[in-house]
Order: sequence, then structure tokens, then C-alpha cells
Amino acid sequence: MAKRETFGSRFAVIMAMAGSAIGLGNIWRFPYTVGEGGGAAFIIVYLISSLFLAMPIFMAESIIGRTAHAGTFGSMEKLAPGTKWKYVGLLTVIAPLILVSYYSVVGGWSFEYLLKALSFSFNADSMDQIDSMFGSFISGTWGPLLCHTLFITATCLIVLAGVKNGIEKFAKLTMPLLFILIVLIMIYAVTLPGAAQGVEYMLKPDFSKLTGRAVASAMGQSFFSLSLGVGVILIYSSYISKEENLLSSGLGTAGFDLMFAMIAGFAVMPAVFAAGIEPGAGPGLIFQTMPYIFVKMGMDAPWLSATVSILFFLTIFVAALTSSISMVEAGVAYLTEEKGLSRKKAVFVI
Ligand code: ALA
Repeated sequence: MAKRETFGSRFAVIMAMAGSAIGLGNIWRFPYTVGEGGGAAFIIVYLISSLFLAMPIFMAESIIGRTAHAGTFGSMEKLAPGTKWKYVGLLTVIAPLILVSYYSVVGGWSFEYLLKALSFSFNADSMDQIDSMFGSFISGTWGPLLCHTLFITATCLIVLAGVKNGIEKFAKLTMPLLFILIVLIMIYAVTLPGAAQGVEYMLKPDFSKLTGRAVASAMGQSFFSLSLGVGVILIYSSYISKEENLLSSGLGTAGFDLMFAMIAGFAVMPAVFAAGIEPGAGPGLIFQTMPYIFVKMGMDAPWLSATVSILFFLTIFVAALTSSISMVEAGVAYLTEEKGLSRKKAVFVI
């Protein structure tokens, strides 16, 4: 069997793991679940769940992967030989594939919106269509199908290039850039007229609105955001060398993920209020809110609007890609290590 690849440095470990963790969960899912869950009180539950439940589980997955230096199935076989734990390993081969099957659909939406931004579609003439733009796109057939196919193809091409040359290089290049972009977008969003209400919504808790459903959703969000229970943290940790300090890289990744979600929340929620959109609008929230902001911005400063809209949708698209590659990698590692397939064949099968 070919020698197992490992990440080249601590920076590479944190960027690759953060690449898996930071994605649609932070930029697309977090703001709309905060909106559905009632704002700051939801965020407090999310933070508590992240610190006391999600982070320990993250570390547990990380320890299993790094100790065994094997895929999700192989790790269980190695650490608990002859027991039924291997079937749990098998579940974590299947789970990321189920996740990526819908994740890539939303990844496709982000690609479509990046194309719309690149073709300057968010202009004054499109103001009347902004409300219906998202609905008419997702209810179409060929548009979403094509964007999904392109998104999944891009994912597979990066996974095909391997751990060091594909996943590590891509994450090292894109993650710092994404961070700078989301901070810039947040700075712009909080200065919009009417944004203060959105900032208050993020900071001032109203526990009377916190339902059991919102608590469960906040806890779910903390798991989703750190990519827990789907084998991807385990598999990435299996590419960490024995010399690396697991606690530092784990805390670095989890802290980065948490910070990114909060910044994304402060980038989107003020914009939601500035646009006068209902925060509980659901999964379409960022795709409905942000174009509205870009159109308004474009009336005064067309080039600024075009630049910010391109950067915003590029951020979502790339963040989604760095996460979806980790989901595909979990299945690919299983097929290459347990079934002896070449990386090329494994990517094709997955
Ligand atoms: N952790 C990944 C994300 O948040 C699934 O997008």
C-alpha cells in the first residue's frame, strides 16, 4: 500500500481542518438559523453547545484519527480490533456522502450567484426581480443541475490532486483570503443605514422567544459547523503527523470556525435589517438579502457594489468547496485504503 500522506505543517493542519469546518454552515446556515431561532439567545445556546459539547467531540474524533492514522473504518478496526465498532466507522463513510449530496446543491446555488455577480446582474434594473430571483432559479431544472454538476466536478478535481497537492494547497491559499474577505464585508454591512437593529438582534438576548426547537437547532448548528459525526474531522486528523500538538491545532481550528460564524452573522444580519427582510426567512436568506443590498449599493456606487458582490459570493463558493472536499475525501480514503482502489477510481466511484 502507498505511504499515507500527512499535512506539511501546523499552519497546513489548521487551514485544512478549518477549511472543512468553515463553509456553508457558517455563512449560509448560521445566519438563517439565528434568524429562525430569534437572535442573541439562540447564539448563546450555540456558543455554550460549541464549547461544552462540540469541541470535546471534535477533539475525540481528532484523537481517534491521529492515533490510528487510518480512515474512518480502518481507525475503528485498528483501535478496537474484532469488535463491532468498525460498523460505526462504516456509518461515517456513508454519512458525509449523504451530507455532500445536498451540500453540493447549495454549493451550486453559490456558484450561480457568483456568476450573477460576475455578470453585474445586481443592478438598478433588476430591483423588481430581486424578490423572485432566488425562487425562480431554484425551481428551475437545468440551471441548478448545471451549477451542481460544476460544483461537484470542482470538488472532485481538488480531491483527485491528493492530500498535499490538492487539499492542503487549496486550503492554505484560500482560507486566509476568505477570512479577510468576510471581515471586509462585515465592516461594510455594519455601516449600512438601518444596520444597528441587526447588530442589536445579534447581541441583545430575548430568552422568552427561545423555544425547545430553537435550542435543538442551536445545538445542531454547533455540530454541523464543526463537521462532527460525519468522519471528516477524523479523516483529516489521520493526516496529522505524530509530532503535531493536537490540542493546539484542534483549538486553533475550532476557535477559527466559531469566530468565522460570528463574523458572518455580523455581516449578514445587519444587512437583513437594512434591507427590511424578515430574519426568519429560512434557507434563502442570504441569497435574497445580499443581492438587495448590492442593488441598493449599486445605485450610488456601481463599481463598489460589483466588487463587494463578487467577493461575497466568491467567499461562499470557496468556503463551500473547502468543506465539500473533506466530505468526498472521507469516502475516497475508505475506497483507497480498505478496497485498494486508486485515488482516481475512488474519486470517480464516490
Ligand atoms: N462544517 C461544514 C460547514 O459548516 C459542513 O459548512
